[in-house]
Amino acid sequence: MINYEALFKISYGLYIVCSGNRDRGNGCISNTVFQVTSDPPRFATCCNKNNLTAEFIQNSGAFSVSILEQNASSEIIGKFGYKSGKEFDKMIGLQIHYGETGVPIVLDESISFLECKVVQTVDVGTHFMFIGELIQAEIIDGTKDSLTYQYYRHVKKGAAPKNAPTYIDKSKLKAESIDYLLKKYQCPACGYIYDEAVEAIKFDDLPDDWICPACGSEKSDFIEI
Ligand SMILES: Cc1cc2nc3c(=O)[nH]c(=O)nc-3n(C[C@H](O)[C@H](O)[C@H](O)COP(=O)(O)O)c2cc1C
Repeated sequence: MINYEALFKISYGLYIVCSGNRDRGNGCISNTVFQVTSDPPRFATCCNKNNLTAEFIQNSGAFSVSILEQNASSEIIGKFGYKSGKEFDKMIGLQIHYGETGVPIVLDESISFLECKVVQTVDVGTHFMFIGELIQAEIIDGTKDSLTYQYYRHVKKGAAPKNAPTYIDKSKLKAESIDYLLKKYQCPACGYIYDEAVEAIKFDDLPDDWICPACGSEKSDFIEI
């Protein structure tokens, strides 16, 4: 038996993984970045094959990782985690540093960064796992804490889209209580669901300037489902 709730107990961080070059860079939000060896220091990240970022990592053979600060905005998570660079250039308007390999590194809302050269690519099905050797690492702001996936889920009320390896279909989760008076509202931009059964506040009682915690869309855009 698989109790999918158990998977939510695994700890992760949240990162912007980028690749490409000065002419065209791209990146996506990832919770799957982890150190796999210490000598030499190597890091792995899992990137969905449909993400533009995966194509850029394959072409350039390098990637950067920006470690997001705890208070990272829903705008930056929405831009990198719910929209694809196939539609627009995500780098416009951001503070970008170019690494030794030429990959872009997002400095906004980040506390440190890594740059890695790909040494191995593993096809794990829906995703590629890129293993990279660390060639550069730097602190951007040593005073702040990093954003964890748990903080993002529990405090920011964020979710993960289908391309995230940790995505779990709602139907697989146990319904702890069924209350037919409680409603659900969905963000049309990113699919985020505000479920009154798990929130302390009814959707109508949220302030008018409340925005989607995942992508920053306005409350008035939400649709009852
Ligand atoms: C919280 C969160 C975690 C995510 N983790 C991953 C991940 O580990 N790997 C992945 O491929 N996509 C992950 N995603 C999804 C990508 O960020 C998303 O599909 C993005 O729009 C891809 O952009 P791109 O096509 O420009 O590369 C995550 C998204 C969120 C919001």
